[in-house]
Amino acid sequence: MIRLEDVTRRYGDATAVDSLSLEVAEGEVCVLIGPSGCGKTTTLRMINRLIEPTSGRILVDGRDILSMPAEELRRGLGYVIQSIGLFPHLDVAANICVVPRLLGWEKARMAKRVDELLALVGLDPASYRDKYPRQLSGGEAQRVGVARALAADPPVLLMDEPFGAVDPLNRERLQSEFARIQRELRKTVIFVTHDIDEAIRLADKIAIMRDGKLQQFDTPEEVLNHPANKFVHDFVGSDRALKRLVRVRVADVMRSPATVLADANTLSLREAAGRRRFAYVVQPDGRLLGWLDTHGLAEGAPAADAMTIMDVAEASVRPDDSLRDALSRMLGLGFRAIAVTDRHGVLLGEVTFAAVEEAMTEGDEHISNQPVEDAE
Ligand SMILES: Nc1ncnc2c1ncn2[C@@H]1O[C@H](COP(=O)(O)OP(=O)(O)O)[C@@H](O)[C@H]1O
Ligand SMILES: [Mg+2]
Repeated sequence: MIRLEDVTRRYGDATAVDSLSLEVAEGEVCVLIGPSGCGKTTTLRMINRLIEPTSGRILVDGRDILSMPAEELRRGLGYVIQSIGLFPHLDVAANICVVPRLLGWEKARMAKRVDELLALVGLDPASYRDKYPRQLSGGEAQRVGVARALAADPPVLLMDEPFGAVDPLNRERLQSEFARIQRELRKTVIFVTHDIDEAIRLADKIAIMRDGKLQQFDTPEEVLNHPANKFVHDFVGSDRALKRLVRVRVADVMRSPATVLADANTLSLREAAGRRRFAYVVQPDGRLLGWLDTHGLAEGAPAADAMTIMDVAEASVRPDDSLRDALSRMLGLGFRAIAVTDRHGVLLGEVTFAAVEEAMTEGDEHISNQPVEDAE
């Protein structure tokens, strides 16, 4: 889909990008990463033809971009820049429709597209479409920036540190949302960051650069397990086992736990828990209520005495969460296992500490990019 052949860009005597070759397949996310000044933005700007290579070729869909009218090229490329770049005097809807307006879309079509995109990026259309950029938080503005890049449905997205200016918590949220949107839309994406965790989380392929030169171009698993050189090794950092957990989703390792119904009597509770000491207590519709310690079950005493009601939102994870999310939740709560629920609180399974440990040491057997649907 996108192919760089020996692309070099010089500024005077300095070389910003040095003989860079890489290929990004359709529907893949390629993350360009490296320290500040290593040539990431220059690379994106060459693909978008904001600047031209000193030498080398760039092909999009097999066509040399220098042979295409710049307009046509850019229509196929959605561009998200770090500083967001929303127009302050335009409301959210008008900001999103910059490209559709240039393309001469009709009003009704633009209005429909705005609402669609706001919903997609997790902003309520009714409350956001008329706001102005100054009324948005950093995370909200960033979402609008992504919506704007998607407006005319370009097959390719170029994103330059799109979440760079957002605080860590919102950043993780935006990353999960981006991953969800990408599973749905399957764009071809070149995503620039200097954050290795972000790269490992979002990339199908990672291109690590230093001083304009490509150091390694590989899957996140390969980069973690077999760094090409010392620079990559040091750049990835020391907690590689933990980083691996970001690539494994809860859905891939969860198992069915013992469950009992909330209104069961002591005898059937014991039976249902079987040989396990702990069992989850669910309501008849499957929603999780709490858990039960069978050691606390006493003859004659109400079963409720042995139950702990839990704050399900706090004490469970979703199938799409990463094992690192699951681990940090377990550590925070002091549990050896964590429940997996859908968005209605229905119990789907559990992830044990042992499963996390196994994934940490095992490496790449559980890796999955397949979408998991919430059970309705
Ligand atoms: N317009 C320019 N004129 C001169 N040097 C530039 C220009 N743009 C970028 N550079 C230099 O090229 C190198 C790569 O820059 P850039 O691609 O912006 O890095 P990154 O995005 O990885 O931080 C840097 O050394 C930068 O100073
Ligand atoms: Mg940059």
